Amino acid sequence: MAAEPLGSLLERRLVIVTGKGGTGKTTVAAALAVAAARAGRRVLVAETGRDEQLPRLLAPGSPPVGYAGREILPGVTAMRIDPFNALGEYLGLQLGVRSVVDFVLRNRGFRQLMSAAPGWRDLITLGKIWHVEQMTNGDGGPLYHLIIVDAPATGHGVTFLDVPHVVVSAVRTGPLRRNAERVEQMVVDTKRTLLLPVALAEELPTRETAELVERLRADVGITIDRAVVNGVFPAPFPEALSDLDERLAKLPDDAPRGELPRPSTLAACARYLRARFELNRSYVAEIGRLTGLPVVCLPYLTTGIQGPAEIAVLADALVEPPRAVTA
Ligand SMILES: Nc1ncnc2c1ncn2[C@@H]1O[C@H](COP(=O)(O)OP(=O)(O)O)[C@@H](O)[C@H]1O
Ligand SMILES: [Mg+2]
Repeated sequence: MAAEPLGSLLERRLVIVTGKGGTGKTTVAAALAVAAARAGRRVLVAETGRDEQLPRLLAPGSPPVGYAGREILPGVTAMRIDPFNALGEYLGLQLGVRSVVDFVLRNRGFRQLMSAAPGWRDLITLGKIWHVEQMTNGDGGPLYHLIIVDAPATGHGVTFLDVPHVVVSAVRTGPLRRNAERVEQMVVDTKRTLLLPVALAEELPTRETAELVERLRADVGITIDRAVVNGVFPAPFPEALSDLDERLAKLPDDAPRGELPRPSTLAACARYLRARFELNRSYVAEIGRLTGLPVVCLPYLTTGIQGPAEIAVLADALVEPPRAVTA
């Protein structure tokens, strides 16, 4: 494990938030955007999913942001990268004839053909991110200090990040190769880019996260310096009462207790809470052990994630220094 203190998440140019569906990628991307904006960074947060989630989380009631993107909070621009929009933009830049591009993109046969070939979406999405990362503002500084990508859910086979390398290996020359090369350079540049895996402290997500981290390290070579474990149960009792269930179990069940349920009933509730907490904590430690990564824990919020108030709570927790976790 790295002995040096880890740099802040906010020092990168590009943070790619990844993980299985439902682990909290979109929630974490939103929380990171808020944390970065609070620190004075100009942030772009890019969704890649089909439906826009970020406006609801960051600025409820605001209209969709679309491919053009919009500043939805001071310092935070959100966009949704639709691969067909990105392809249109790319072809428009390459060919310079917008009407031809639009004609091709509207063609049903062409769309069906492209839908059957998944890899191009990833490459074109990463190409768009590369393009945005290169953009400057009036004073010559970057248009966005930090770009956060809410990556597609990982699952079967090749991931989002493998594609540039596959193309570079397979295509010798031409614009496709140049595009893939610069994207690959951006992805593996440890100063610029960080992959942020999001896991849940449960059995299956623990194993899947370990496999994902292992594979991305080996096959993509992207920097991963911490794992986020989302939805972690807080300790159910104050520290001095961590054995509350045992204490309750020792009470005589017929003792006078006013309106309260029997001690044996309370003991059973307390035992359940404690067991759930301890199991959850053991998976947090397991994620740390299997990945060799320090871990940042985000609390499970019993209210669910309704909007900016909950995102603000998670933003605070997210930028805490990660810890090496032991069981
Ligand atoms: N820390 C948390 N506490 C409670 N609910 C959460 C937390 N993080 C995420 N959720 C909820 O879990 C679900 C999945 O989160 P989401 O960010 O959409 O995951 P993903 O983008 O990985 O599919 C959502 O309903 C979200 O509100
Ligand atoms: Mg999502």
